[in-house]
Amino acid sequence: MIITTAVLTKTLNLLVVAGARPNFMKVAPLLRAAQTGSGDHIANHAFKCRLIHTGQHYDAAMSDVFFTELGLPQPDVCLDAGSGSHAVQTAKIMERFDPVCEEEKPDWVVVVGDVNSTMACTLVCAKRGIRVAHIEAGLRSFDRTMPEEVNRIVTDALADLLLTSSRDADQNLLCEGISPGKIRFVGNIMIDSLVDNLGKARERRILENLGLKKEAFVYVTLHRPSNVDSPESLREITTQLARLSEKIPVVFPIHPRTRKMLGEFHISTSVSPNFKIVDPIGYHDSLCLTEQARFVMTDSGGLQEESTFFRTPCLTLRPNTERPVTVSLGSNRLISLPELPQAMDEVLENQGRKGAVPPLWDGHTAERILQEISLASVG
Ligand code: UD1
Repeated sequence: MIITTAVLTKTLNLLVVAGARPNFMKVAPLLRAAQTGSGDHIANHAFKCRLIHTGQHYDAAMSDVFFTELGLPQPDVCLDAGSGSHAVQTAKIMERFDPVCEEEKPDWVVVVGDVNSTMACTLVCAKRGIRVAHIEAGLRSFDRTMPEEVNRIVTDALADLLLTSSRDADQNLLCEGISPGKIRFVGNIMIDSLVDNLGKARERRILENLGLKKEAFVYVTLHRPSNVDSPESLREITTQLARLSEKIPVVFPIHPRTRKMLGEFHISTSVSPNFKIVDPIGYHDSLCLTEQARFVMTDSGGLQEESTFFRTPCLTLRPNTERPVTVSLGSNRLISLPELPQAMDEVLENQGRKGAVPPLWDGHTAERILQEISLASVG
């Protein structure tokens, strides 16, 4: 008699949702790991992923360039939701994602981060009884004036599997009464993408093209409504950056929201050669600038994490962060605009804080996520 130990492999159908710029580098490693089969050995599942692009971001510079650079497949479904008020954008995504769920009948929907697409698709699934895995769960700024904070709270309250990138996120979820059985600390999937793309980022010629020298410039990105949606704040920011550029070159790729607001508030951006306001840049150029900058100044969540990985000092122009591990362990420091001149001088004089890389920011998060989804599917 032949006894076989082979177990039938079940295929799990995953709908993976991406919609806005910071989502693309979070889904790319997952799709790749699912395709290569890493992570399937624990509970014996294979994965079939379908990529859903909600169309929250649609400009080539905000979307297409990331598909090309990250080697992402063309989306299987495009919802073309586009811009609008939070309510309109969320409602459009829900309305268009609902029939996709009806048609595809997925085993899981995987959502990432904290954008409107994340919350909208989670809500659809909750109403349909489809299981949701949330990558980057549990982050909290405790500031409900941030649209993303509302998205995080709603998504985590409804999701079935909460995949966290730092231990503080686990604690936040437990404090909100979420069952420990749903929470899994898997590490930071952004760092998977960073590690995968480091070689290509280092080949970029953006420093030469912009006339910059290694560790002799500041890389700035600002797009949060709290910074750019008020004329006083945006005017003061551009004034301070112009002043900063008298000491060290500043490169500032402008997000569409920021550009729109500069226009609406009639704020002039004709500035010195040392103050380089450019169009949005791709992922590889951004990684290149982050690694090589003397320091980064930002209000982006992703850049706080990437600069922590590179141990590049980061000044975050916000009163709070949902990523406190970048401050407690990493190279990040929260500042207000009036504090900028002093904070900047400190970095320029003392090199700034370099910090350390947090646990499980190691390039293997996607595999751990697939293992957790697999285990949760049999549990
Ligand atoms: C969104 C996310 C934010 C994320 C950011 C990254 C929410 C609530 N916010 O903010 O968490 O950090 O993306 O970029 O989900 N626009 C274009 N082209 C585009 C997309 C947008 O011109 O491809 C313009 C439109 O005028 C739009 C504005 O930018 O109204 C803002 O876009 P929106 O997606 O609403 O929010 P973001 O500020 O990009």
